[in-house]
Order: sequence, then structure tokens, then C-alpha cells
Amino acid sequence: LSGAVAQPSLAERAAEISWYHTLELPGGITTPGSFDTLDELARVPLPASLEGRRCLDVGTADGFWAFEMERRGAAEVVAIDLRDPARFDWPTPMDSHQRGAYEREYARPRGFDLAHRALRSTVEWRELSVYELGPDRLGTFDFVFMGSLLLHLRDPVAALMAIRGVLQGELLSVDAVSPLLTALHPRQPIARFEAPGWPMWWTLNLSAYRRLFGAAGLEVLAGGRPFPVRRGPAYASSPRSPRLLSQRARDALVTRVGILHAWVRARPA
Ligand SMILES: C[S@@+](CC[C@H](N)C(=O)[O-])C[C@H]1O[C@@H](n2cnc3c(N)ncnc32)[C@H](O)[C@@H]1O
Repeated sequence: LSGAVAQPSLAERAAEISWYHTLELPGGITTPGSFDTLDELARVPLPASLEGRRCLDVGTADGFWAFEMERRGAAEVVAIDLRDPARFDWPTPMDSHQRGAYEREYARPRGFDLAHRALRSTVEWRELSVYELGPDRLGTFDFVFMGSLLLHLRDPVAALMAIRGVLQGELLSVDAVSPLLTALHPRQPIARFEAPGWPMWWTLNLSAYRRLFGAAGLEVLAGGRPFPVRRGPAYASSPRSPRLLSQRARDALVTRVGILHAWVRARPA
């Protein structure tokens, strides 16, 4: 009898994880994310080469964008996120259903760790809130990516100011914008207050999203037209508990179409 215990394969370990990102791993494995990040990547201007640049991914989740920056030649990539959902700057209190679901999800093996090993990545994961960024903690960066985080934050301007403090080159921000407010108010910056009961504080129209950068001391270099970030196979099972009819209607729209996003390239003014 051999004493060797069969190790689970990469595919078996990947199947235990609830993935946020759709990631390609070795062996032809594509993770079933909550969102179709491969489709999103094709719609945003992530530089084709990041050769020699020091890069930061803010709110990295399973690390899709950090690993992509590494693949594009970055000299170094730092990825920040929070392990404890209680530290998220989300409207509080999360109700007990939401909190329980997040705690169960966050107790499971993390997608980032599995993908990091499978890809033999050298991305450095650090537990830090976007608000805590500062040159004294992580140094400065030539390129920063931040995706789908501003919508969850109470103070998106403070988050962008913290990024400005570590930014020596360019920021690519990709974030949610309201389809309705963008259609109704094409030029006027408008935000709807969402809290509580939904994991966001504000929903901005496209004009307000673009105005945030100037308010945080950043100069907008370019901005793209809105596009949907499409849901992936795991979306249906991710923890949400919309209470209001309007929130349930929006959830149904997300399931069918995706969440409308736009991108902005910016640098310190
Ligand atoms: C909606 S996901 C977006 C993931 C990824 N950035 C993307 O664009 O595909 C938001 C991520 O931000 C993280 N997060 C939440 N609050 C944060 C904060 N205050 N600072 C940094 N990351 C945060 C969450 O844990 C989650 O991984």
C-alpha cells in the first residue's frame, strides 16, 4: 500500500470557490465568475504593455486585473483588498441575511490565492482599504487600476484623493453608472442616494462619474461610452437581498443585461 493521498486537482480546488472573476487558469480552466471579466477586459483601454511599470490594483477580489497587469509586463504589481467584509465601507448595518452570506463566502478558500499559485504569480496582496493608501505605506505607482468599487463607497472623492496621493502616472477607473440618470440627464451631474438596503451609497450618472476625478485633483485624459459588465455563471448564487421593488427590478435587469459601467483615464492635475 502506498501512503500517498491523492491531491485534489486544480479543477477540483477551483470548483470549491465562489468566483467573482472569470479567470483563465492553466489546463484550460475558466473560472465561473459572478461577472464576465474577459468580456469587460475587451471593452476598456488597459495598456497593451505595462513594461517596467509599478502597478496597483485597488479592490482586487480574485485578482483578474492584477494578474492581467503582470501578464502585460508590469515590473511589480501590488493588489489591495479587505478580508473582513465588516471593514467594507458599505451602508450599515448589512442585514443578517447579507452578513451571513458574506461571512460564509469569505470563510471559503480564496480565489485569489488559488489563482496566484496556479499562475505562479508574483503579485503582492496587501490588506488595505483604498482610504488608507498613502506613499508611506506602499510607495508610489506608475499605473493604478480600480474597478467597480466607487459605487460601494460612501466617499468616492476621498477614495480618489487617496489614489492621487500614490499616483505618479495614470489611473484607469472603470465603474458603474446609472442607465436611467445618464439618459435623463446627459449633461448635468446627478447622483441618487441608495443606502440603506443595497450595497451601495450612490448611483452616479456618467456626467457625475467624470466630475469626481476633477473634484479629487485628477485630470481626465479620456472617457469611454457606457457598456454593460455582463454577469457570469456564478451571479445567480452570489449573496444579495434586494428588498424594495425597484431594487428587485434592477436585479432582474442586471441578470439579463449586466451592470452599466464606464471608464475614465486620469492623472494627477
Ligand atoms: C465589486 S468588487 C470589484 C472587483 C474588481 N476590482 C473588478 O473590477 O473586477 C469590489 C472589491 O473591492 C473590495 N473592497 C470593498 N471595500 C473596499 C475598500 N474599502 N478598499 C479596498 N477594497 C475594497 C471587495 O472586497 C471586492 O473585492
